[in-house]
Amino acid sequence: MEKDRKLIIAGNWKMNKTVAESVDLVNGLKRELHGVKEVDVVICPPYTALSEVSKVMIESNLRLGAQNMSEHGPGAHTGEVCASLLKEFSVRYVILGHSERRQFQGENDALISRKARAAHAASLKPIVCVGETLADRESGRTEEVVRTQIEGSLAGLSADQMHDTVIAYEPVWAIGTGKTATTEQAQEVHAFIRKLLASLFDETVARKVRIQYGGSVKPGNARELMSQPDVDGALVGGASLEVRSFSDIIKLSV
Ligand code: PGA
Repeated sequence: MEKDRKLIIAGNWKMNKTVAESVDLVNGLKRELHGVKEVDVVICPPYTALSEVSKVMIESNLRLGAQNMSEHGPGAHTGEVCASLLKEFSVRYVILGHSERRQFQGENDALISRKARAAHAASLKPIVCVGETLADRESGRTEEVVRTQIEGSLAGLSADQMHDTVIAYEPVWAIGTGKTATTEQAQEVHAFIRKLLASLFDETVARKVRIQYGGSVKPGNARELMSQPDVDGALVGGASLEVRSFSDIIKLSV
């Protein structure tokens, strides 16, 4: 389906791939995706591979993303990595508030909004993740939970900054489980988020912001998900770890 928003498909490698494996994977993607211009393709390797991957990506249409960043600038924050250090490797995007970080690193909406503001201050585009758990969905609280996360995680961003912000809707129960939301379930929440953006910001923001779906996206379900009117791309975990499956998802989406 023709949309006026350009699709954005990002591969979240999570804590996988040595430097050598990362370079191989990106070389393979470069070959497969040469000439694909209809989709913004973003690769998010672990920090340890950013330097080498950024060299391989030169002269390709792939873009580099990080999986997280500190809310702070350079200084005494042991183990953290800040925006200016990421920018050294031509990182353009940063995933913020992934459900694994919300769950295992205790990240909350207030922290995510500080990180999103720090990302924009450094001209990095945040990919802000939201999504309900299975318990939330089963108790009919999906919209309430997503609303709270969107309001909290985007707090303090201007409408202009929102134009360079991507939202990833990832139902927690669909991540890495092989369970995908049905296209109707995905579309319903995406439309809800878009409406919410209109009320929190304005109609232009609602029309322009790209909302990715994430959670067990595979070549077999990509086309159908991407054909939904409010689904503007995907955040892909497991299936982004191989050249074939990730490039197929992209090719099937255009
Ligand atoms: P998955 O992960 O594609 O392996 O379900 C998606 C994500 O966590 O971003």
